[in-house]
Amino acid sequence: MRLTPASLLLYLASVSLGAAAQSPAAVAYAPTLQTCPSGTSLVRKVGSNAKKQSLNADEARYVSARRSQVSPDAWTKYLVSVQLNTGIALPFYVDGLLLGLWGQHAQPNLGIATSGGGYRAAIFGAGILNALDGRNKTSVNAGTGGILQAATYLSGLSGGSWLVSSLAQANFPMLPELVFGPPSTPSGNEFGGWLTEIDLLQVGGANATATAEFVGELVSEVALKFLKGFPVTFTDLWARTLVRHFANGTTAADLVDPSLTHGAGLTFSSIANVASFASHAQPFPIVVADSLASRTNGSAVTEAGDIVPFTNPIYEFTPFETGSFDPSLGAFTPTKFLGSPNSSVCATGFDQLSFIEGVSSNLFNEFNTSAAALAASSIGPIIGALQQALPETNIRLDSAAIPNPFFGVSSATFPDSDQRLLTLVDGGEDGETTPFQPLLVKARNVDTIIAIDAPADTADHFAAGLSLIATQDRAKRFPGTYAFPPVPTTSADFLAQNLTKRPTFFGCHSTAASGEPLVIYIANGGAPLGQVPVTNTSTEQLQYPSDEVQAMLDQTFDIATQGIPVADRGGLQKDPQWPACLACAIVDRSRGKLDIPRDGVCKSCFARYCWS
Ligand SMILES: *[C@@H]1O[C@H](CO)[C@@H](O)[C@H](O)[C@H]1NC(C)=O
Ligand SMILES: *[C@@H]1O[C@H](CO)[C@@H](O)[C@H](O)[C@H]1NC(C)=O
Ligand SMILES: *[C@@H]1O[C@H](CO)[C@@H](O)[C@H](O)[C@H]1NC(C)=O
Ligand SMILES: *[C@@H]1O[C@H](CO)[C@@H](O)[C@H](O)[C@H]1NC(C)=O
Ligand SMILES: *[C@@H]1O[C@H](CO)[C@@H](O)[C@H](O)[C@H]1NC(C)=O
Ligand SMILES: *[C@@H]1O[C@H](CO)[C@@H](O)[C@H](O)[C@H]1NC(C)=O
Ligand SMILES: *[C@@H]1O[C@H](CO)[C@@H](O)[C@H](O)[C@H]1NC(C)=O
Ligand SMILES: *[C@@H]1O[C@H](CO)[C@@H](O)[C@H](O)[C@H]1NC(C)=O
Repeated sequence: MRLTPASLLLYLASVSLGAAAQSPAAVAYAPTLQTCPSGTSLVRKVGSNAKKQSLNADEARYVSARRSQVSPDAWTKYLVSVQLNTGIALPFYVDGLLLGLWGQHAQPNLGIATSGGGYRAAIFGAGILNALDGRNKTSVNAGTGGILQAATYLSGLSGGSWLVSSLAQANFPMLPELVFGPPSTPSGNEFGGWLTEIDLLQVGGANATATAEFVGELVSEVALKFLKGFPVTFTDLWARTLVRHFANGTTAADLVDPSLTHGAGLTFSSIANVASFASHAQPFPIVVADSLASRTNGSAVTEAGDIVPFTNPIYEFTPFETGSFDPSLGAFTPTKFLGSPNSSVCATGFDQLSFIEGVSSNLFNEFNTSAAALAASSIGPIIGALQQALPETNIRLDSAAIPNPFFGVSSATFPDSDQRLLTLVDGGEDGETTPFQPLLVKARNVDTIIAIDAPADTADHFAAGLSLIATQDRAKRFPGTYAFPPVPTTSADFLAQNLTKRPTFFGCHSTAASGEPLVIYIANGGAPLGQVPVTNTSTEQLQYPSDEVQAMLDQTFDIATQGIPVADRGGLQKDPQWPACLACAIVDRSRGKLDIPRDGVCKSCFARYCWS
């Protein structure tokens, strides 16, 4: 960050914030208050008894419509792709379950979780989703395409939240189009691609003045929210730069144009109006964030370097609801009314899509080990300018601040029940960088999870299983609420057994009664097939030339489709059985419920791909 406080303050001194607050983006970003519609309830308690927790009614309707009207056809097409492209005879039950011979309720209930890790994780996640996309002929020919069309849920966190939410709001385009933008220049409020070649913060490149002007523009865009009495923190500025990459309304040519709204006013709840959502053609999107609770148990942090203890509630955002299924809270509020001051006055427009992306990826509190460390960090000058331009007292500026919809709720167990603000941070700060948690909620009945894991666990920015270890540890603290299959207890075990270098199935030996999902783990653990690695970039890299992104996507495609490579023809080749093995894994929980024994190719697949 070459930005200096002096250049930024100089810029801010040259503009009138009062006038800037009237810009189209500032107006569209500021929430609006009105009397709540009659019959509105701002808190829905889901209870602490996991077996009795209930889903939001709109989500339940969405999932039911998708599973009855969209997934059956998608599973059939996927089966044809596996059959045609492997030429391997699958056991009768794999065919039968995917074709729905035992009924739609017996078909797999699949969730996909895509991890944090900045742009690296967003790109890696996009590459894996592309390999699972039935609209891509290359993926169909590889025998993996079609799974994305049949999946029920897609959860994302941090860099993964950029992927999941940009995909959902852009009307679920194919992944390369999402990343690189449409073939012809988009107009108005359409999606222009991730624009990875423009840095997320250092917009001016070597020109510090241009960056200072840009950051000043961000400050003015959040000023009206502040003037209307809502808490404004660094997350809001972060949201306003993320929006130019991961939401509709910006192209490379107009990224710094202050006369445009740049996705301001585009809310997370408005995903519900997107055509492919209305027709249930997308998996149901969920974004995850952690909380810095006021009453917290610091000794419940497990891995060194993690910040948030497992005992703090994990929050999830869906187009319909925001809250936590954790038994300490067990409550939700309508996402469209997020930010409401009390139950008689409702806020709308607080749930800006960019703000949710910013909350889930706000790891800037990690810089704040002391006031001096924060001031010296890359965001120090920006925090300083924010303090000066929009002075607020008693608010943490390094985290997201949301008026607490759960004030007074579950006071015996909810550590923020007496707080006026929730303080939320990056969903990976408890070590669970892969957003499993929403998919473990019993009311969702997800039985199979494809886990896309691309954190920088190792010094060379590869995964080493830490997020699975953290999820296993946290699930044990909530017995009866969350069940997770056994995984190794150390990253050394993951690495020694090569579990991050090829797909691994966890939970192959779980009993049906355990409620543990089968986890299909696909990690960014090393280059496939003897290639030179390109997918292990630093989380701090905030700018990518297009050809680098293309190379990463290409390599990720091989990671998704290689299986356990076999030595053949003088080199490493993709496992020709991998697509069949993946199909075996996807139907395995459904098979178990029908008490059909594993058979045929699935037996040898499980011998090879399961961790035991
Ligand atoms: C399909 O995926 C392949 C492999 O990653 C990619 O090269 C190609 O561009 C994709 N096709 C489309 C139409 O997006
Ligand atoms: C975003 O733009 C796409 C076209 O690129 C459109 O289909 C979609 O509905 C828009 N989303 C929102 C929330 O307006
Ligand atoms: C740097 O950016 C500022 C503001 O956009 C511009 O006026 C100036 O010409 C730029 N300087 C150079 C050397 O490009
Ligand atoms: C805090 O966490 C530690 C470690 O998990 C645990 O032993 C202790 O009982 C917890 N304390 C409270 C007050 O919950
Ligand atoms: C609710 O919030 C509004 C706006 O902040 C305020 O004017 C009103 O007095 C509050 N009502 C109650 C019952 O607290
Ligand atoms: C830094 O963290 C402390 C708590 O550890 C908090 O009180 C303070 O507000 C933070 N600073 C900023 C600028 O957010
Ligand atoms: C990627 O991995 C290779 C092999 O370990 C390593 O040499 C390289 O430095 C890594 N790249 C980054 C950016 O960490
Ligand atoms: C892990 O992979 C390396 C080669 O990359 C191989 O030498 C080693 O035997 C593998 N270990 C296991 C347990 O499969």
